Amino acid sequence: MTFRKPGDHNPQQDDRATLDELVRWRRDVRRFRADAVPDDLIDKLLRLADLAPSVGNSQPWRIVNVRSLETRAAIVRNFEEARGRSADAYAGEQADLYNRLKLAGFDAAPVHLAVFSDRKALQGHGLGRQTMPETLDHSCACMVTVLWLAAREAGLGLGWVSIIDPDEVAKALDAPPGWKLVGYLLLGWPEEEHLDPELERFGWQPRTAFETRYSEAVAKPAEASPVGVAGAVLGSVTLVGAGPGDPELLTIKAMKALQSADAVLYDDLVAKPILEFVRPGARMVDVGKRGYRKSCKQPDINAMMVSLAREGLKVVRLKSGDPLIFGRAGEEIEACQNAGIAISVVPGVTSAQGGAAGLRVSLTNREHARRLQFITAHDRRGHLPQDIDWSAIADTAATTVIYMPKRTLAELTEVALVHGLDPKTPAVAVANATRPDETVFISTVGKIAGKLDAAHPDGPVLVMVGEALRYATSQDAAEQAEAIVSTLDVMPGRI
Ligand SMILES: Cc1cc2nc3c(=O)[nH]c(=O)nc-3n(C[C@H](O)[C@H](O)[C@H](O)COP(=O)(O)O)c2cc1C
Ligand SMILES: C[S@@+](CC[C@H](N)C(=O)[O-])C[C@H]1O[C@@H](n2cnc3c(N)ncnc32)[C@H](O)[C@@H]1O
Repeated sequence: MTFRKPGDHNPQQDDRATLDELVRWRRDVRRFRADAVPDDLIDKLLRLADLAPSVGNSQPWRIVNVRSLETRAAIVRNFEEARGRSADAYAGEQADLYNRLKLAGFDAAPVHLAVFSDRKALQGHGLGRQTMPETLDHSCACMVTVLWLAAREAGLGLGWVSIIDPDEVAKALDAPPGWKLVGYLLLGWPEEEHLDPELERFGWQPRTAFETRYSEAVAKPAEASPVGVAGAVLGSVTLVGAGPGDPELLTIKAMKALQSADAVLYDDLVAKPILEFVRPGARMVDVGKRGYRKSCKQPDINAMMVSLAREGLKVVRLKSGDPLIFGRAGEEIEACQNAGIAISVVPGVTSAQGGAAGLRVSLTNREHARRLQFITAHDRRGHLPQDIDWSAIADTAATTVIYMPKRTLAELTEVALVHGLDPKTPAVAVANATRPDETVFISTVGKIAGKLDAAHPDGPVLVMVGEALRYATSQDAAEQAEAIVSTLDVMPGRI
């Protein structure tokens, strides 16, 4: 991405894209070319910034264009002293880095603007600021933000200096009583263009994930107690299994983790009632990444977990079912270990167990199953995995539970039949296992894909295959009476 300079106007580009670019390329600029900036351009930018929002329409900003070289020299001395005093706050490597940073651009910046907030401003009749008088200063910051973007749009850069004694600046500029310095701004043509802040490039402080500053207020469950606040130097990450949906299948340990979490990153397969157990006030981040939909990428989730834990937060990574079963937990554990973040795992009831419980079927029925295998019907690209052990699937003494079957079930069963699996082998699909809308489809390997396709259930589905499934019964009592064994073939299509 390259920032378009003034004059490069592309009429095809919509306004949103332009704003997006402006915001991304707006930098705090501290390295200026010495070239002058025309007065009429400065005038135009200041008048634009003057349109900024202000509390009660008070427009409390007072802008002084500091042209006097003598006054500028006094301000630079003020900055140098303040910078020296601030350095005392740092030690060791951080102090060295602080001393190397360029924290202003007085040397070359052609335009110096002192911005004050007039705390005695009568304009606006006090509206909006009786409860929050500081909104006068906030309004000035709004004006500076508009100026920052407007300057950028004109190809100029702006640097905001706050390492300065505000009273000394007010004195040097003969400011009226009640004027409080908001910032000393340097304006000019940037020497370099950057997408990342200088402080990030020089290793002082990178920006952190948006999610660390965003939370949602959710209804408080009566039994949730407000425990666990951020504050530790380094936090931790706990992968917690939310189970297949029924909140009562949460383990006590999972419940405790939710009730003491500072931040919860949850998948969209996690049943919503479970989120009600999270400690009120915890940051809630939906990192849902169901196949085929736009969502958070795994590396982003890893980075977010690590960054939240680095803030000292107790992070819960809440995953459906058991976190260690088809949940990409390996990548998350590795990311935490690489970052030196403490990581633990609270197991959960996997959906195969939830589904089997609803069917009241033993997946390892001694008469029929010597082996229980969990497979995924879904590779990284959403296709049927190429390396399935088909002889294991065709094994008459095996029960196979197929996770993520929705897209590829027809292909999977077809190939399994080619490899010798009997088409009459019982096959049961369970949608939304353990949830109020649980739906069971009892069928055979030969017919299950067509049946599911026709019903097209919403929500997660898994399919279980094997002779042990002959004993499957659905929740519904009437169905339960009918649903067994030899009747499988004569009663296709039951839901
Ligand atoms: C209120 C405020 C005061 C700032 N004061 C200084 C300062 O005294 N010296 C400095 O080098 N940068 C100062 N900055 C710039 C920030 O350090 C800078 O915005 C931050 O590194 C992010 O970089 P970016 O603006 O390029 O995204 C200030 C920024 C703000 C918003
Ligand atoms: C990414 S995997 C996660 C599995 C999860 N870690 C577990 O142990 O159940 C998602 C798949 O799990 C299955 N699944 C999860 N919850 C389910 C539920 N309540 N009912 C049926 N299948 C479910 C579906 O096959 C879904 O496509």
